[in-house]
Amino acid sequence: MIFTVAIDGPAAAGKGTISRAVAAEFGFAHLDTGLIYRATGRRVLEGEDPLAAAQALEPEDLAADGLRTPEVAQAASRVAAIPEVRAALVAFQRRFARREGGAVLDGRDIGTVICPEAEVKLFVTASDEVRAGRRWHEEQAAGHGTTLAEVLAELRARDARDAAREAAPMRAAADAVVLDTSEMDIAAAVSAAVAAVRGRLGA
Ligand code: CDP
Repeated sequence: MIFTVAIDGPAAAGKGTISRAVAAEFGFAHLDTGLIYRATGRRVLEGEDPLAAAQALEPEDLAADGLRTPEVAQAASRVAAIPEVRAALVAFQRRFARREGGAVLDGRDIGTVICPEAEVKLFVTASDEVRAGRRWHEEQAAGHGTTLAEVLAELRARDARDAAREAAPMRAAADAVVLDTSEMDIAAAVSAAVAAVRGRLGA
């Protein structure tokens, strides 16, 4: 069975948690496409050329430590605005999306560019303050000393760049279901996403 769940949305909206839960529920494969841009951004921070870095990316790079830092997130967002970098990363993502057995991909342009034919499209969002609060808690748990104000500024800078770029800007597909999780806990957000997938699978 070919079945793609596209989950897009701004930084720290809960896409990752929802994607992993949906993939586990239905036995689908999961690809966090942010890691592709983070791994490319990290190579650029180490001095590589952005396009060469994207072309040289290996699947193992996505499992590397240290991809979740704010510096790497900003570097990811900068390389993600370069059209040639995005183009170099499309084929891998498309193949993953249409693999046999079902796939969940989360990112910014999955429902609009990578897989416009996805069977289910969700755009997961939440207020800036709620998203910053969630990311700050994660960073505290990981032992980083960032302040809430710094986290909020980092998210807003990245969202602005991701939404304004010309190449595959972050936006909800016309046929996406928008899930605002500002007032939802994770269990409620996951059950809304699972219900959307179940509804389409049963259709
Ligand atoms: O985890 P968080 O939501 O903060 O970010 P991420 O999903 O890991 O993505 C990091 C950065 O990669 C984003 O800010 C985007 O600039 C870029 N990205 C993208 O352009 N397209 C995607 N499909 C996924 C990520």
